Amino acid sequence: MAYLKNFKSFFKKLPPYYTKQIIFLVLLKLVSGSFLLVSPFLSKLYMDDAFLVKNFSKFLHISVWGAAIFILSALFLALENIVKNKMMIKLKLSLVNKFIRKFYSFELEFFQSKSVGENTYRLADIDVQTDFAVEQFPRFLAESFKLVIVLGVSLWISLPMTIFLLLLSPLFLIHSFYIQRKLSPIYRELWKCGGKLSKKIHEAFSKMLIIKAFGLEPYQRHAYLRSLIGNIRLGIKSFRWSVLNSLNSSFLSKAVYGIVTLFGGWLIIKGRLTIGSYAAAMLYLVQLGSLLESLSYRFEYIAKESVSLERFLEIMDSQPKIKDLPGARSLGAIKGFIQFKNVTFEYQQKKIIFKELDLDIPPYAWMAIAGLSGCGKSTLINLILRLYEPSQGEVLLDGMDLRTIRLNDLRKNIAIATQQPLLFDVSIRENISCGLKNITQEEIEEAARIACLDNYIKELPQGYDTLIGEDACLLSHGLKQRVALARAIARKPCLLILDEAISSVDVLTEEKILLALRQKRRSLSTIIISHRLFAVKDADRIYFLKGNSMIEEGTHAELMAKSQSYCDFFKNQNYI
Ligand SMILES: Nc1ncnc2c1ncn2[C@@H]1O[C@H](COP(=O)(O)OP(=O)(O)OP(=O)(O)O)[C@@H](O)[C@H]1O
Ligand SMILES: [Mg+2]
Repeated sequence: MAYLKNFKSFFKKLPPYYTKQIIFLVLLKLVSGSFLLVSPFLSKLYMDDAFLVKNFSKFLHISVWGAAIFILSALFLALENIVKNKMMIKLKLSLVNKFIRKFYSFELEFFQSKSVGENTYRLADIDVQTDFAVEQFPRFLAESFKLVIVLGVSLWISLPMTIFLLLLSPLFLIHSFYIQRKLSPIYRELWKCGGKLSKKIHEAFSKMLIIKAFGLEPYQRHAYLRSLIGNIRLGIKSFRWSVLNSLNSSFLSKAVYGIVTLFGGWLIIKGRLTIGSYAAAMLYLVQLGSLLESLSYRFEYIAKESVSLERFLEIMDSQPKIKDLPGARSLGAIKGFIQFKNVTFEYQQKKIIFKELDLDIPPYAWMAIAGLSGCGKSTLINLILRLYEPSQGEVLLDGMDLRTIRLNDLRKNIAIATQQPLLFDVSIRENISCGLKNITQEEIEEAARIACLDNYIKELPQGYDTLIGEDACLLSHGLKQRVALARAIARKPCLLILDEAISSVDVLTEEKILLALRQKRRSLSTIIISHRLFAVKDADRIYFLKGNSMIEEGTHAELMAKSQSYCDFFKNQNYI
């Protein structure tokens, strides 16, 4: 019954035009299949009304009808294929659109809990959903209709033979249910295995440098092949059940026809059935049998499809944890006054990072955060960007709880450059403008100038149009960081955050960048996180995180005077 619930929930997610189009498609299927439906009846007419009584004009009459029905059904078959293809494209677009929209609505934590490979596999799996909605489901409906029609005609032509067949038909259903129950767990495993394979190959391709540098090719190849073999084993297991299903279905249908044929022969000999009716009834019963057989294959398909549906609905029915709450307000330009009030935060592993933290970061200032690796500097920023939410307390921006601000507006006002540049495989220009529609070339160049990139870009043959390759492999890490920094600057944010954003840049260039940036952002809020003293020491205020939610704050001179840990932290840097 879980299947039914899944299918019901899936149909609710389809666009409203789907029902009408499906009815149209089923009607087309029925009309295009009409020749097959009436041909046994035509045979009966040929035999009983033309051949046995040697009536040539009746023979011609039946032939003209037969030809007309044949041509019509061929035309309708072509029309059915055109309609089906159109529907397939439209529905796939609609499902992918909904699915991707849903995907993007999830919080960062969701993506950290699932591999890229698995998510890609899920997206590719939408083809199965589309095929189900446009091909398999309408076929199931049309076959069920045909079953009813063929059953009616068969009953009309030969009541005893049809009832005889019906009495034997539960054999098909019992056998199909059995096969479906066996196949369901195998298909579930197969899906998981497919996801793992996709994850493995994605991971390997994206870490090729390490694989090459460490000579890990054989290790990776074997690991992939091992997973692939596991997948093939499951495939063979499901294939065995499929073969058994087809063998049993075919054996059952032949056995049933054999018995029905014997029974029909006995009826003719006893004079209770004409030869024409017998021939027509047999042809209809063959159709009836093959429809029952085909429906039994549908059960096998349902077992496979429902696993795919489960994975699809898992995403579609989940709700993002971080989203706009009802009544969330829009935001114009912000000052950048940040307050943490009694904030407690832990990641999923339940290790508390901040406990009852109180902290004020004033606006319109050049602020710095320093502290030992792992003490929670980036976590603090994640909370300001509302990438995560505190389990207790609140984070305020300009006096407003972040949860009351529309997420898009919040993130429009804040730009971040992180240690990991995470650039896209497009040109330098597109990486810097990154989604900004009205940005001018001058603004892009200005951002690049502040990030000390312009000279480098000018020397490139294609300048700003240079493509930087997968994972920006054509750039050094320091250059990548500067492109990422230019991207953040180009957004002209009210609050700019640099989280060790230029840690791979040489010290001289870093100093130049910080100088230019400070001049540019004189009356704006900026937060710098760095392990380098010179990047921190001139800040209007420095927050020194000591772990366990202990924070010391002040200017460099004040901290030097009052905090031993601060002195120890920077003591080996020449600047002291
Ligand atoms: N997504 C996450 N899930 C679980 N734990 C995390 C996650 N991100 C960070 N942590 C943990 O939270 C703690 C603080 O991490 P955070 O990245 O904020 O440190 P940091 O001060 O920025 O360190 P660094 O100077 O090395 O960048 C660390 O113990 C880290 O392992
Ligand atoms: Mg960090």
